[in-house]
Amino acid sequence: MQKSSGTEWDQVWVGANIATMVAGAEPYGNIKNAALAVKGERIAWIGPAAEARVRASAQNLPIQDASGLWMTPGLIDCHTHLVYGGNRVEEFEKRLCGVSYEDIARAGGGIQSTVNDTRAATAGELNAAAVARAKRLMAEGVTTIEVKSGYGLELATERRLLEVARDLGTQLPVSIAKTFLGLHALPREFAANRQDFVNLVSGPWLESLVAAGLVDAVDAFCESIAFSLAETERLLRAAKQLGLRAHVHAGQLSDMGAAELAAKWGALSADHLEYLSAAGASSLAAAGTVAVLLPTAYFTLRQTTPPPVALLRDAGVALALATDCNPGSSPCTSILLVLNMACTLFGLTPQEALSGVTRQAARALGAQDDIGTLEVGKRADIAFWRIERPAELCYGMGANPCAGVIHRGKFRVRDAR
Ligand code: NIG
Ligand code: FE
Repeated sequence: MQKSSGTEWDQVWVGANIATMVAGAEPYGNIKNAALAVKGERIAWIGPAAEARVRASAQNLPIQDASGLWMTPGLIDCHTHLVYGGNRVEEFEKRLCGVSYEDIARAGGGIQSTVNDTRAATAGELNAAAVARAKRLMAEGVTTIEVKSGYGLELATERRLLEVARDLGTQLPVSIAKTFLGLHALPREFAANRQDFVNLVSGPWLESLVAAGLVDAVDAFCESIAFSLAETERLLRAAKQLGLRAHVHAGQLSDMGAAELAAKWGALSADHLEYLSAAGASSLAAAGTVAVLLPTAYFTLRQTTPPPVALLRDAGVALALATDCNPGSSPCTSILLVLNMACTLFGLTPQEALSGVTRQAARALGAQDDIGTLEVGKRADIAFWRIERPAELCYGMGANPCAGVIHRGKFRVRDAR
């Protein structure tokens, strides 16, 4: 029996150039003068514009004219600390007067000061500030945001942060991945008993947040000013026992072997990686752990040792990119600026950079079967751009060529930011 007319597709966009970001022969997985059809939340068909016109008319389906536009997968920001109270503009000023990020942290400023502001904020205040930041990301074609907790460092506030993160996904047309960053900084009240804190985070806190459905993955800041390899491993082991995947803040300020540890536990991603050895890079490659590079954090902290991109490439490590949006090291809500800086500061090619916020960012979230490329069956999360070629997304600084977004099959014109 034939399908009744109109049931094959719900909507079809015709005449755009499509950067599918599928790895293969064509740069960016490009298909010129193409069309893309959506059924429900999924991509139903991708092919030549001419064929789409014939198929659409056979279904009596009106076409949406997208000529002159480019379509890419909806962008994915796979590392943010989007929910927090206050800001750190005072610290920004201090750093520019010569005080280092590490010294500020050791003196009880830095992450600790955001913890104080975050604990003091109501859920409503946290939500309003996070919504504003999420909207700025979404205005630039972002359809998925990973959001870490980590500025509560006490169970009730960590829960509040993860609830605010979860609620963003119901309030706004954006998908949220929730990460419990239990080991971010040692809270003052545990200054004399680190081990108790690590045990609480990795035991009862994690279990209770998981039971509340608030944890998609865990994370730890493995660094000399934060948590040791053994402390990080405690959390990674607990996560594995609960069947959870992990991210690790690794090699941001020094190489302690955190990348090797992330790989050992099969982490989804190791993030930052300015300080990384050849052995670290090969262990990431062997484990399939994605390297998430954060150029705006590198830029903000005025670091001078970029991540060893050639080493990562040669080892065959997948490279993703993210804003690291947070009040200290990266007060950034522009994924397009991240693309630009990944190219200009880290030497990524525009194709690597765009892969880093689509296909590879999806892998960094373990969501590659669902998002990150434009392929039949994947979720219809798509961004439309007024550009001449995909590299233009990496080229501009301050422009926003996003023309519209489809999230879960629903189109909307570009948000204001
Ligand atoms: O990813 N490195 C640790 N966490 C954040 C910084 C957080 C902060 O300074 O508040 C980062 O850079
Ligand atoms: Fe971070």
